[in-house]
Formats: sequence, C-alpha cells, structure tokens
Amino acid sequence: MTDRAEIFEVGPRDGLQNEARMISTADKVALIDMLSRAGFTRIEVASFVSPKWVPQMADGAQVLAGITRAEGVSYAALTPNMRGYGGAVAAKADEIAIFASASEGFSKANLNATIDESMARFADVAKAAKADGMRMRGYVSCVTDCPFDGETEPGDVARVVAALREMGAYEVSLGDTIGRGLPERMDKMLEAVVQELPAEKLAGHFHDTSGRALENVDVALARGVRVFDAAVGGLGGCPYAPGAAGNVATERLEAHLRQRGFETGLNAEIIAQAADFARTLREG
Ligand code: HMG
Ligand code: MG
Repeated sequence: MTDRAEIFEVGPRDGLQNEARMISTADKVALIDMLSRAGFTRIEVASFVSPKWVPQMADGAQVLAGITRAEGVSYAALTPNMRGYGGAVAAKADEIAIFASASEGFSKANLNATIDESMARFADVAKAAKADGMRMRGYVSCVTDCPFDGETEPGDVARVVAALREMGAYEVSLGDTIGRGLPERMDKMLEAVVQELPAEKLAGHFHDTSGRALENVDVALARGVRVFDAAVGGLGGCPYAPGAAGNVATERLEAHLRQRGFETGLNAEIIAQAADFARTLREG
C-alpha cells in the first residue's frame, strides 16, 4: 500500500504576500482557480491582516468572492486578531489560521506583540472559532532560527505548540520562516514537539533559503509528519523576516514525495502550469 502525504498549497498567501509589485485580484483569482483543479484539499488564499503591514493581502475579501470554489477544497485565511477573524468569516473562508512565533524577536516584528500578548489575541479568535464551528489551524514561526534572536530552543517551540493545541488548533504547522534550519536541529525540535502533539497533527512549513528544505522534509517524514506546506513556483518569503526566501516549491516537493513512494493525489501537469503562471506574476 502506498503511504499518503499531503501538500497544503500556500502560494496564493505566503507566496504572494512578499511581492513588492501589486498583483491584481484577477491574477490571484486565476492562480487559485488553477490550483483548485490540481487536487489540493487545502489552499491558503488570503490574509486578513492590517493592510498597512501587508498591502499585497489587502484584497482578501475580493479574492475569496472571486474564486470558483471546487468541491472538497478548503480555502484558508490567516487571522491575527478578532478584526481579521471577522473579515475571514464575512468572506466565507472555510478555515482560519492563527500564527504565533517561538521567538520574541520575530513576534514583535511580525505582530507588534510579545508571544504572550499574541497568545491572548489568538485565544479570543480561538474562542470565536470554536463557537462558530470554524476549523482553525495554528502556525509556529522560527522553529529553529529567528532573524533577530538567533537559534531557537526546541522547548520554546514545544511550549507554543502546546498552547495552540489547548486553543483547539486541529493541526500545527512548524515554520522554518527564514529557511536556515539545519536537519539535525530540525530533528531535535521535532523530538521536543511530538511530546506535545503527535506527528499526525503536525505540518512542516519550510522556506528554502539555504536549499535544504527537502532534507528537512525527509527529517520530518522520518518523525511521522505527513503534511507539508509549499508554494507553486517557490514564491514567497515573509515581509517581516529579513532575508527569507520562498517556501519550498510545490512542484519540487511533489516530485520528491512521489520519489520517496508517497501518494500526493496531485496533478503534476497542472501544478507545473500554475508554477509558470505564478512566476509570471512575480516578473510582472
Ligand atoms: P498593530 O499596529 O500593533 O495593531 O498591528 P493596531 O491594532 O494598532 O492596528 C493598526 C492598524 O491596522 C489600525 O488601523 C487597525 O484598525 C488596523 P488605523 O487605525 O491605523 O487606520 N488593523 C487591521 N486592519 C485590517 N485587518 C486586521 C487589522 N488589525 C488591525 N485584522 C497587527 C498588529 C497584528 C494588526 C499587525 O502586526 C499585522 O497585521 N501583522 C501581520 C503581519 C503578517 O501578515 N505577516 C505575514 C504573515 S506571517 C508569515 O508569513 C509566517 C508564516 O508563513 C509561517 C512561517 O513561515 O513561519 C505563517
Ligand atoms: Mg511562511
């Protein structure tokens, strides 16, 4: 029997949020509609964050209104606070994500809040999501390295993962935000994290700055993780993480997983077309 691994496509959000050139809503919709035909069950399409902080994501409501929703696909949005949650609900996002950091430096830069302050905001969002029956995913950024604080302690990641679990996150995605994670340290981090949340509820979210994202995928696979975030064309980065390159490219990850014997359920041809299109958006 072939083992299954899932790619959670985050290109329309994590891939595009860092682009300096404003991409039209119509182009974002076209990219998502293409991805909707590729076999993904989850696609992150919007961010209901402050438009002053991330101007590229200001049209989240229009994007969600413009896409052709495919049966069986969950369209996800990031929500940093109650205002963002309200926006995501109004736009009919199928699921939301709260996004915390394991390091104080990045928490401050990305959310203008300490980890504890951000957790208090997320607790309100989590409470509302639970009351509304809205599925909520959690992210932890800087799981091995922070652009401001240096190396992250595994115990710090495990603590944030536990807090997100307590808030009701159905899955927690572990972000190597700046793509500097070394496989050995990634493994140590996972060893600590699985004490708090089993591998079946974890996802790997690896930016590929150092070209080692696929090695880190292998480390996570060996620990039992079967969900990985990726962006078509390898686009992206985080505007508040200096030096961060894009997410691992979906097309490379898909080929890698297949080569490792995992079934992804994805159509490689459509993904290749979407990757080409995504690259044209970057080039303008
Ligand atoms: P703040 O400035 O401390 O908050 O930002 P504020 O409450 O003072 O709000 C500032 C302004 O934004 C106000 O407007 C608010 O109304 C407005 P003004 O009065 O100045 O006109 N505002 C909003 N507008 C729309 N939607 C909202 C919203 N909230 C406030 N939801 C805040 C705090 C959290 C808002 C800000 O820091 C923020 O938006 N941060 C998000 C940054 C971001 O999106 N980063 C990228 C995503 S995270 C990532 O990429 C990592 C990940 O991929 C995993 C990984 O790789 O590790 C997930
Ligand atoms: Mg990211």
